[in-house]
Amino acid sequence: MKIIVKENDIEGGAAAFKIFEKGIKNGAKVLGLATGSTPVTLYQNWVKSDLNCDNLTSINLDEYVGLKPDNPQSYHYFMQKHLFDKKPFKKSYVPDGLEATKDPQAAADHYNQIIKDNPIDIQLLGIGRNGHIAFNEPGSSFDTVTREVKLTDNTIKANSRFFDNIDEVPKSAICMGIANIMSAKKVVLMAFGKNKAHAIKEMIEGPVTEQVPASILQKHLDVVVIIDKAAASELDDKYKK
Ligand code: GLP
Repeated sequence: MKIIVKENDIEGGAAAFKIFEKGIKNGAKVLGLATGSTPVTLYQNWVKSDLNCDNLTSINLDEYVGLKPDNPQSYHYFMQKHLFDKKPFKKSYVPDGLEATKDPQAAADHYNQIIKDNPIDIQLLGIGRNGHIAFNEPGSSFDTVTREVKLTDNTIKANSRFFDNIDEVPKSAICMGIANIMSAKKVVLMAFGKNKAHAIKEMIEGPVTEQVPASILQKHLDVVVIIDKAAASELDDKYKK
């Protein structure tokens, strides 16, 4: 893993954008994209750049089951607002939260086929405080592919800040699996803030274990981790250069 420590999320977003820009200039065509508060500074750099996205395909990590694309809390809506409205891609895939309400397995199978047909060149990730990636919570098998996942109480609580009240947070999501994520040629993981410091330490220094889903990234050959000083605060000094 290559670890880049920046002063804050603004600098981190700029550094992440440079990696995507370089990758795209070198031929990356399919990007795995992520939601959450962490990638916002990356998308801000993206929309103000002159990067042409007409030939790019994006595949998002996850979507809440039951939310329509025009629901402001849906990940469809998030992506439109933060990136696609200003930088439309040739094709953008986000799991279908409504199809998933009727037939979660069909929605998941459909998404796995999309990933198979469009192998991901660069996958963007955030990380949950418990080490989850996308909605692959602790205990998820490293063999998982896209499927319906139940959200843990902690994740529901953490994500309730985006909803009017906690009862509105969906109880499940359609989410790429860890095997899908590991199949990407390159992975860029971003994390900012003290509340991510423990997960970052476990991911980088801890054992590879399904109890810390992000720890599997130790086995991937091309991972760049972009963190700020607060998220790096529990790391051994040798990683902080
Ligand atoms: C959610 C998302 C993840 C995200 C994580 C951290 O559970 N499904 O993709 O990485 O939260 O979110 P944030 O970036 O807002 O801290």
